[in-house]
Amino acid sequence: MGFLSILGQTHKLIQEHVKQGDIVIDATLGNGNDTLFLKKLVGDNGIVCGFDVQNTAIQNTMKRLAEAGFSLEHVHLIKNSHDKMLEILPPSMHEKVSAITFNLGYLPGGDHNIITQQETTIRALQHSLLFLEKDGIITIVVYSGHSGGEEEADAVLAWVQNLPQQYYQVLRYQFLNQKNNPPYLIAILKR
Ligand SMILES: C[S@@+](CC[C@H](N)C(=O)[O-])C[C@H]1O[C@@H](n2cnc3c(N)ncnc32)[C@H](O)[C@@H]1O
Repeated sequence: MGFLSILGQTHKLIQEHVKQGDIVIDATLGNGNDTLFLKKLVGDNGIVCGFDVQNTAIQNTMKRLAEAGFSLEHVHLIKNSHDKMLEILPPSMHEKVSAITFNLGYLPGGDHNIITQQETTIRALQHSLLFLEKDGIITIVVYSGHSGGEEEADAVLAWVQNLPQQYYQVLRYQFLNQKNNPPYLIAILKR
């Protein structure tokens, strides 16, 4: 049996830290695959908040949930940049969120010019730490193949490497012999 894919490992880690009724955030909705995964984990009474800058991503996510038989109850899809989460989400959510997912880059099948940017990504990650509860997890799937992707990846790596180890555990999961800039996973656990 092969190693888990990047997405498989990402979901495995999230699954280990999220339970029914939790509050979670999908920082990059895209086609809604991660949102659907999170919604299944938190169940009817859990809350999913999601961000994306594109209408297409909001619509695709609504469609993805509906096709899988889920209502939008307790699902908040926000058309805005993830670096606005501190202004948009209520202070009552601080230190109450068990998982925050980032899947960087562009929308597969969508406009490849709309991509996550290092400055907003880092700000969103900084703010994410305020929302994370103890034992909560942030996952970041990083792509470096597109224009600007390498700079963003470097910025994310530099940022996570400086997180104080007494408060955060940080790991990287990566296939080292795959060609064509495969994505890799960074996970942050709040101790
Ligand atoms: C790789 S896709 C996400 C895939 C998604 N998680 C899924 O399961 O289908 C990246 C998404 O990030 C979005 N994005 C780009 N900049 C953003 C920002 N500043 N805030 C939130 N989303 C952003 C893009 O519009 C795109 O939909």
